Amino acid sequence: MNILLTGASRGVGLVICKTLLEQGHAVYAVSRTHSDEIAALQKQYPEKLFFKSADLGDPAAAKAAIFAEDFVSNKIALDAFVNNAAQAYDDIVTNLNLEPLRAMYEVNVFAPMLLTKYAIRNMLLHGKSGGIVHISSISAHTGYKGLAMYASSKGAIEAFSKNTAREWGGRGVRSNVVVPGFMETAMSATLSQEQKDRIYKRTSLKKATDISSVAETVAFLVSDRAASITGQAIHVDNGTI
Ligand SMILES: NC(=O)c1ccc[n+]([C@@H]2O[C@H](COP(=O)([O-])OP(=O)(O)OC[C@H]3O[C@@H](n4cnc5c(N)ncnc54)[C@H](OP(=O)(O)O)[C@@H]3O)[C@@H](O)[C@H]2O)c1
Repeated sequence: MNILLTGASRGVGLVICKTLLEQGHAVYAVSRTHSDEIAALQKQYPEKLFFKSADLGDPAAAKAAIFAEDFVSNKIALDAFVNNAAQAYDDIVTNLNLEPLRAMYEVNVFAPMLLTKYAIRNMLLHGKSGGIVHISSISAHTGYKGLAMYASSKGAIEAFSKNTAREWGGRGVRSNVVVPGFMETAMSATLSQEQKDRIYKRTSLKKATDISSVAETVAFLVSDRAASITGQAIHVDNGTI
């Protein structure tokens, strides 16, 4: 399968990228940084891993860079789009500032929506059924102090996915969401051990979410094994309550 993946340079996206490559897929990977890990994977999978540097903070420019002749051209038939890249704007609501809120929404909401538009158009052009998977966050469901702005962007993308599934299911396009719990990545690195322990206490398994469990769920959802699953939000969160 040909899969477009955002946020591949590190964290969850890097593990998703590795998992998809190991399962034999071709990955069109996007992030701002061409990380050492991506370079190493390209050496390992020269025919299967393609990289484009793009800043999703400017959705129109990112779209132009991604759906271009030298990357996901019309000759490439996309089977799936995985929207993983995101930024967190953490603060309490009474400190909210419009500028960082807008900047986060460009990356977390507007760019994924625009890329979904062109991913679906590519699938329709090639008469293919296809899968879209958005990475959300448990914060959109449970609520955490300081995450209202970030969680709202994930809530928006969950609603977008559900409605995309309804709108395009008749043409074979599926859209699902994976809802991870807290994972040990750069995004959560600013949390103190005490804050982390408080978060883990709210899970049934009392620990951080395993990134490979998230990646495997994404790989399953884009595959034909999930042919009858659409419009869903699958929680991979150690049973958060
Ligand atoms: N970590 C957690 O606890 C947690 C929990 C629930 C959900 N999530 C979600 O899981 C997904 C992955 O998060 P993570 O923890 O792996 O975060 P991360 O380690 O901060 O990685 C974020 C990825 O997104 C890319 N990215 C960020 N801003 C970008 C931009 N403007 N343009 C292009 N790419 C950009 C980054 O690449 P560059 O910096 O190279 O551009 C990087 O590859 C996100 O959707 C996040 O919301 C995370």
